[in-house]
Amino acid sequence: MFTNADGDYVSGQKISDLLGCSRTAVWKHIEELRKEGYELEAVRKKGYRIVGKPNKVSSNELLLGLQTTKIGQYIHYEESVHSTQKIAHRIAQEGAKEGTVVVAEEQTAGRGRLDRAWYSPKYTGAWMSIILRPSIPPQQAPQLTLLSAVAVVQAIQEVTNLSPDIKWPNDVLLNGKKLVGILTEMQADFDRIHSVIIGIGINVNQQETDFNEQIKHIATSLRIEKGEEINRAALMQAFFLKLETLYEEYLKNGFGLIKVLWETYAISIGKRIIARTMTANIEGFAKGITDEGVLLIEDDEGVIHRIHSADIEL
Ligand code: BTN
Repeated sequence: MFTNADGDYVSGQKISDLLGCSRTAVWKHIEELRKEGYELEAVRKKGYRIVGKPNKVSSNELLLGLQTTKIGQYIHYEESVHSTQKIAHRIAQEGAKEGTVVVAEEQTAGRGRLDRAWYSPKYTGAWMSIILRPSIPPQQAPQLTLLSAVAVVQAIQEVTNLSPDIKWPNDVLLNGKKLVGILTEMQADFDRIHSVIIGIGINVNQQETDFNEQIKHIATSLRIEKGEEINRAALMQAFFLKLETLYEEYLKNGFGLIKVLWETYAISIGKRIIARTMTANIEGFAKGITDEGVLLIEDDEGVIHRIHSADIEL
């Protein structure tokens, strides 16, 4: 109601009529909002209006104005967690619905690929894990990483006008520096997926001084690149909608369109690269990706290598 009122007053009577609750209950809800950090002005005979919102990505902030039907309709929000991934795994096992999102303001033990740490300071980023339950064979799950990368690039473009690149398999970069990391994990039997947990970390409002010595040369944020603060909740809402649209397309028509979109954003394709895998370094031309999201590299002898997991050097 306050969002719709767009800064105008909403009378206590109107709120109580619309919610079907007493004026005392309305007052209690207002107090709850104040505890969450909303600044509400109360004026006799006029009602309440919002004069300040918290810089938070709470359920309220994410649900107000959300245009999806599935992704983000259930939000599990915490101020501080070890890792949203860990919570998402637990609630997925307990039966959380598809589209449930775990969001935190801060992660004290954020995890990246290959068990690396993911730096997730408070109130600056979008740290989230999304639970999906697709009816696809487990070996196709990596396609969802590529789909998520496309969704995050499109959301960033829409909200900031910046155009990030994708580096296979799951890095989103701006000016060569890492902006987003994606970690896809799943709970599955041999032939059936129970859930896919897509963990996404977007560096949104960090300033240069917020990055430590180790990562400041390789990481960036939207604020650094754009030169202004970005509304994290609006960015996440845009991402939920892009993800939902692409996911529906994927379930209906398969990977075809997603693959084409991914290749248009990818910087490594058509270039000479080195893939550092667990067992070897493979150097050659990145030819493209397969329908399973596997990277194809042609070496100098003309041999095609299928890369499932690696760090890519351009
Ligand atoms: C990577 O680039 O290595 C992937 C990083 C993924 C980070 C996100 S932040 C939200 C979610 N929770 C985690 O602990 N990790 C993922």
